[in-house]
Amino acid sequence: MLKDKVLYALEDARPEPISGQLLAERFGVSRNAIWKVINQLKEEGHRIASDRAKGYFLEEGSDLLSVPGIRHFLTSGEELSIQVYDEIDSTNNEAKRRLGAGENRNLLLVADKQTAGRGRIGHQFYSPEQTGIYMTLSIELPEPLYQPERITLAAAVAVVRAVQPYLSEELRLKWVNDIFYREKKVCGILSEGITDLETGLIQHAIIGIGLNVRPVEFPEELMEIAGTLQLTAPTRNEIVGRIVNSLLTLYRDLSSDEYIREYMAYSMHPEKVAENLKLAVDRKESM
Ligand code: BTN
Repeated sequence: MLKDKVLYALEDARPEPISGQLLAERFGVSRNAIWKVINQLKEEGHRIASDRAKGYFLEEGSDLLSVPGIRHFLTSGEELSIQVYDEIDSTNNEAKRRLGAGENRNLLLVADKQTAGRGRIGHQFYSPEQTGIYMTLSIELPEPLYQPERITLAAAVAVVRAVQPYLSEELRLKWVNDIFYREKKVCGILSEGITDLETGLIQHAIIGIGLNVRPVEFPEELMEIAGTLQLTAPTRNEIVGRIVNSLLTLYRDLSSDEYIREYMAYSMHPEKVAENLKLAVDRKESM
């Protein structure tokens, strides 16, 4: 679709402008067709500015989630179907519905807002628009998994790798699925699995991640416990891309202990991690 191609090209050129003429030549269409598509993208909420001499560019604060925007940051050649929603009940629910309907290829679902975001043990996950990332990666595991909590630990490590470089203080991980920043919970992970009935082992993982990125006004009951990274950059598309890149690498070898040590280095209780996973730990190495 021309609109997706243009958005990808704008993301690619960012922060530099790209001329309408160049876009038209690249995609074999008229400048007028490019102009129309740019207007459609603006109507959808993308903040695109234009410089008469140099062309179109995405403004610094333009932060809409989009499939081309996310794809631009993916480094893995792995096949992945991506869907972005303005609003959905829960990306984990949608992943389950799709699996139930027989859609078992690798899938990434991302929403700007969830109306029924779920946490562990029946908790809700507050998921307002424009400020967070609510994403689910639904993937077939390459080999049976004996310790299902490893999926959640890998997801936590993927989030740390994606955002820690942009933060001035350290993230802290709380067994098994919570991530804290400045003593407030900024991220929750909800991993669900489809089990192979013969082996009793997890065969397909549904990994849901909710991350509060921009400033948020939390409802009164969450104010004390919930926090946000307060990041102004990078874009949410880039963060999603970075998380997926790490997760797609990590999930290929979930039995490795290397990423578990990375988890432990950020963990509030590294000895608990070792105990739960029955690891021999060198405390110094993990701190
Ligand atoms: C928790 O805090 O207990 C886990 C929260 C997990 C929230 C994410 S947001 C994307 C995905 N969809 C959901 O409904 N939940 C997960």
